[in-house]
Amino acid sequence: MMRPSPGRTAPPSVYVKTYGCQMNERDSESIAALLIGHGYRLAQDEVDADVILVNTCSVRGKAEEKAIGKLGLLVAGKRERPGLVVGAVGCMARRLGGELVRRVKGLDFVVGPRRLHTLPAVVEAVYAGRGPVIDAGEGEDEMAEPLTEHLTGGPSAFVNILLGCDRHCAYCIVPVVRGREWSRPADGVLREVESLVSRGVREVTLLGQSVMSYGRVNPVWPGEYVSRLGFREPLPRLLEAVGAVEGIRRIRFTSGHPSGCTVELARAMAEIPGVCPHLHLPVQSGSDRILGMMRRGYTAGYYLEAVRRLRSAVPGLALTTDVIVGFPGETEEDFQATRSLMEEAVFDNAFIFKYSPREGTPAAAMKDDVTAEEKLRRNHVLLEDQDKRGLRINEALQGTTLEVMAEGPSLRNQARWAGRTGSNKIVIFESVAGIEAGAIVQVRIDKAGAQTLYGSIQPGERLTG
Ligand code: SAH
Ligand code: SF4
Ligand code: F3S
Repeated sequence: MMRPSPGRTAPPSVYVKTYGCQMNERDSESIAALLIGHGYRLAQDEVDADVILVNTCSVRGKAEEKAIGKLGLLVAGKRERPGLVVGAVGCMARRLGGELVRRVKGLDFVVGPRRLHTLPAVVEAVYAGRGPVIDAGEGEDEMAEPLTEHLTGGPSAFVNILLGCDRHCAYCIVPVVRGREWSRPADGVLREVESLVSRGVREVTLLGQSVMSYGRVNPVWPGEYVSRLGFREPLPRLLEAVGAVEGIRRIRFTSGHPSGCTVELARAMAEIPGVCPHLHLPVQSGSDRILGMMRRGYTAGYYLEAVRRLRSAVPGLALTTDVIVGFPGETEEDFQATRSLMEEAVFDNAFIFKYSPREGTPAAAMKDDVTAEEKLRRNHVLLEDQDKRGLRINEALQGTTLEVMAEGPSLRNQARWAGRTGSNKIVIFESVAGIEAGAIVQVRIDKAGAQTLYGSIQPGERLTG
C-alpha cells in the first residue's frame, strides 16, 4: 500500500516532467495514469507535487544536460520540502542507471523506459525507506507489452505499436536505451484504439522509432495474412484494421523509413479513409557518402524514389523530415547535397539537429571534426531554406478550403481556435459558437506563414464531432 508523505492526509500527488520525443510523451501519460490507478492524484504543478518524475531523453548531449540540471534543482528543493520524492525515468535512466544517483545526489529512483510498469512498487519502496531504487532495465528481461493506460480528455492519443529499434544508425543512442525491437500484436493495439474511441478520442498516432518495421521481427497477426483490401504487409494491414474502428476519424503513424515506403503502404495511405496525408520521413543527409557512414541503409536516390512513390499515390501528401548537420567528415559538398535533396523532396517542415556524439555508438569512434560554429552555420542555412520553402508551400494553399480538426483555443488569442489539417499543418481560425475539441470543420485559408495557416470557418458549416 502506498503512503502519503509526512504531514499529509490526502493521497500523494505526482507530477511528470517530460523531455524528448513523442514516445516519451506517451510514456509520461501512461505513467501518470498508472499511478492514478494506484491511488495517486495528478498535481497541476511541480511545486504542489509529493512525487516528481523526470522523463529523460539521451538523444543529444544537450538533452541530457537539461534533464540533469532539472533533477539537480528538484533534489536541492528537498531541503525545503521534506518527504518530496524525486525520480528519473526514461532513456537517460536506462543509459546511466546507478551512475545517475552518483551524479545527482539525493535522487530517489532511476527507472528505464521498459521498466515503467514497476513504478508503483518503486515509489512504495522509496516511501518505505528502501531507496534509492535502481531499475534501469539492462539485459534480457525487458517487458514485452507496453503500458496501455491513458488519461481521459482530448480528441487525440498516441498508441505504441513498436518498441525499441534494431536499426543501429551509427550516431544514434536510441537502440541502446530503448532496447531490441518488438512489435505489439495487432489485437492489443486494436483493443487499445477501441477503448480510446469509446472515451471520445477521434485521432490516433501509432508510434514506433522505425514504425514501418512493424511486424518484421515478430509476428503480429494470427493466421492467414491477407486483408480485405488485399494487404499482406503488417503495417498497411494494421492501418486498415484501425481505420475500420467505428468512430475513428484520423490515423497517423510515425516515424517512417524509406525502406518501408512500399507500393502497399502508398496504397494504404491513399485508400484507407482516415489515414492522414502526412508522413514524417527523416532523411538525415542528402550525401550518399554520409548516409553510408551513418548506416542509414539507403542512398539519396532511393529516398527520393520512395518520396515519388508516395506522392504519386497520395494527393496533397505533406512530408516532414529530420536532418543532422556536422556528422563526422561532413564536407561543404556533402552539405550542399543535403540542401539540394531538401529542395527536391519539397519538405513541408524540417527539424535540423547539430550532430552530438553519443558514447557507445559507432559514430562516437569517429572524429567529431566539424566545428561548433560550422554546425551552427549549416543549421541556420537549412532553416532559412526551409522557412522559404514552407512559406511557398503554404501560400499555395491560400484560397483553398481544408478540413481541420479543432484542438482548443489559440494560446496567443483566446478568441481564436487552433486546429490541424490532415497534412498536420496548424490552422488558426476565428472561434464560432458551439465549437469543441475534436470537431471537424471546413476552414478557408486566408493567410499563410511558414509554419502556420490562418483562416475562417465556412459560414453554415456544420460542426461534426
Ligand atoms: N526514430 C526516429 C528518430 C528518433 S531520434 C527515426 O529514425 O526516424 C530523432 C532525431 O534526432 C533523428 O531523426 C536525428 O535526426 C536526431 N538525432 C539522433 N541522434 C542524434 C545525434 N547523435 N546527434 C544529433 N542528432 C541526432
Ligand atoms: Fe535511431 Fe536510426 Fe533507430 Fe531512428 S531508426 S531510432 S535514428 S537507430
Ligand atoms: Fe530521446 Fe528516448 Fe525519444 S533518447 S528521442 S526520448 S526514444
